[in-house]
Amino acid sequence: MRITVTVNGEQHTRDVEPRLLLVHFLRDELRLTGTHWGCDTSNCGVCTVWLDDTPVKSCTVLAVMADGHEVRTVEDLAHGAELDPVQQGFVACHGLQCGFCTPGMMMTARWLLDHNADPSEEDIREAISGQVCRCTGYENIVRSVRWAAEHGGGAQAADAGTEPAPGREEVRA
Ligand code: FES
Ligand code: FES
Repeated sequence: MRITVTVNGEQHTRDVEPRLLLVHFLRDELRLTGTHWGCDTSNCGVCTVWLDDTPVKSCTVLAVMADGHEVRTVEDLAHGAELDPVQQGFVACHGLQCGFCTPGMMMTARWLLDHNADPSEEDIREAISGQVCRCTGYENIVRSVRWAAEHGGGAQAADAGTEPAPGREEVRA
């Protein structure tokens, strides 16, 4: 089946099998290996990307379901050499150890800050509740997201008008 997906602002057309998962489309077809693949059962969240501005676990989405839609991956966070505040926060607050969960954590954190420029610790823990980290105990991840909020990371949301913190049902990642 021929699909066209806009990924990080660039259109890609490919012939794919209907059973191909979005995570494999990104990693194997487009070589965007920043999106990780872990459990394949919708539990770990390392495969989280945005599909039309909503975080999704790309191991639960077929590539054909993204036909005609927009996908954003972790490769799109930095602007050239300038890291996104979320990425800067993870560096400043040691938000990663092995880094396996980091792409998914960052995509969810970026989405949270776009919708809530000043999230509480509770808001952050709620937002990342669908993601698993085996290394950090989550403490430094929460600190990293707060750091980003305190260093202009939520500016986009503040400019657009802050929306309420997402509930668990709203964050599918
Ligand atoms: S690979 Fe674990 S949720 Fe997708
Ligand atoms: S940093 Fe290793 S799994 Fe989270």
